[in-house]
Amino acid sequence: MYETDIIASQYCEFHYGSEYFGVKNFTKSIVDIVLPYINNKSKALDIGCSVGRASFELKKEFDVVDGLDYSNKFIQIANQMKKDKLLKYTNTSEGECTYVSQSSLEDLSLDINTKDLNFYQADAMNMKKEFKEYDLIIAVNLIDRLHTPLDFLNDVSSRLNQDGILLIASPYTWLCEYTPKENWLGGYTKDGKDIKTIDGLHKALDDKFELLKEDKIEFVIRETQNKYQHTVSNVSIWKLR
Ligand SMILES: C[S@@+](CC[C@H](N)C(=O)[O-])C[C@H]1O[C@@H](n2cnc3c(N)ncnc32)[C@H](O)[C@@H]1O
Repeated sequence: MYETDIIASQYCEFHYGSEYFGVKNFTKSIVDIVLPYINNKSKALDIGCSVGRASFELKKEFDVVDGLDYSNKFIQIANQMKKDKLLKYTNTSEGECTYVSQSSLEDLSLDINTKDLNFYQADAMNMKKEFKEYDLIIAVNLIDRLHTPLDFLNDVSSRLNQDGILLIASPYTWLCEYTPKENWLGGYTKDGKDIKTIDGLHKALDDKFELLKEDKIEFVIRETQNKYQHTVSNVSIWKLR
């Protein structure tokens, strides 16, 4: 799904384009909410970075930022923005009618030193051991797109420095096409009781992490000039004990 031109264009607009219905840029809101919890800003990892905006925002603060995503197309776009400092993409007005939009790092107050900003095509479920020693790891709208989110959560904790921060954001839209039902962290009923994803996260993380904050951040993805997805992502911020 994340390799198509249409989805890539929608994510370019979502990350680098206009704001709609008064909803602030989501990737900026994610970075803004987590920054007050970070002491050491040496190294950050953005897993499922898509076309890269949160990684650029993080690079304003951190010495080194790695963004990784499974989608080759998304990583190409992020690298193109890094190289050219400018991105051109198509927006759909209606049907097959499109127009070209563009966005630059300068327009977004992101004209930063990109030397230690790295984008990699990689699988969150099978990350190389070199991705380690981070002060911050963010996984934004990712866990409900993974095959085995519990394995992912177990793995990321070993990649954080002491006192490192993990941000998980997700609308908790569990779908069998991405995550077999037996692997859902929540959003199912057991013995007549609703199991919530935040409870699944506590079960997975409480041994190693302290929950610092829980909040909700909304976002709007523009599909056409007449159709928008308005979603609420649940944000939890965890500190490694
Ligand atoms: C819903 S999008 C969210 C993207 C971005 N974090 C944001 O908030 O705009 C999910 C992202 O996770 C990526 N993704 C899905 N499965 C992945 C995996 N196994 N490893 C790495 N990235 C993955 C997709 O390619 C996509 O970019």
